[in-house]
Amino acid sequence: MNGPFVIAVDGPAASGKGTIAARLGQAYGLPVLDTGLLYRAVGVMAQRAGQDASDEDACAAAAAVLRAEDLADPALRTREAGELASRVAVHPRVRAALLSFQQTFASQEQGSVLDGRDIGTVICPDAPAKLFVTATPEVRAERRWKQLQEQGEAVGYDDVLADIRIRDARDGGRDAAPMRPAPDAVLLDTSRMTIGEAADAARRIVEAARARWDRS
Ligand code: CDP
Repeated sequence: MNGPFVIAVDGPAASGKGTIAARLGQAYGLPVLDTGLLYRAVGVMAQRAGQDASDEDACAAAAAVLRAEDLADPALRTREAGELASRVAVHPRVRAALLSFQQTFASQEQGSVLDGRDIGTVICPDAPAKLFVTATPEVRAERRWKQLQEQGEAVGYDDVLADIRIRDARDGGRDAAPMRPAPDAVLLDTSRMTIGEAADAARRIVEAARARWDRS
């Protein structure tokens, strides 16, 4: 008996995974969870409570009281919130506190799309469709820089590239659920693709996974 059709979309910052996840959700009529928002919310909540991102107890306490409506806060979209998120995400107890929220979302019968860093490896290791979306750090920095400019954040390209490199090292080097492709994930390098091309390529990967899933 097949479980729900879950699409796991993992990858580093500004690889295009969020847009790809949103387009897949539209194409298949599935709800989408941007799991990065959970870590961003924990970082911002802890900061507002005067706590430091390095304080695992305080961050785990913030994670334990997180509600779905907290994820709509525009403050979670800033560069600073992304940095805080990657600092709180190293704590095993924060990750443990956010696990059931993500797995409950993924258990919806109609299926779902989740994007993050450890969806295919830890949150939904049995997901029938897994993508790991990448792009070079330079391309990702260019995309993120443009996005931040559109949001009105004045920041230089070199600073954004430095952020991306620090985040890659922290997310890939941590002990708790490090960012890496699941053994059965399909790698999608979007460095030379427009977002439309990347979304089409992702759709083809999911179609193939869906056909396998329908047969099983
Ligand atoms: O949009 P961007 O890729 O910059 O960031 P995000 O997806 O919102 O994630 C922010 C940070 O949260 C990442 O750098 C990770 O440290 C952490 N994160 C994680 O550890 N696990 C996830 N499933 C999602 C995000």
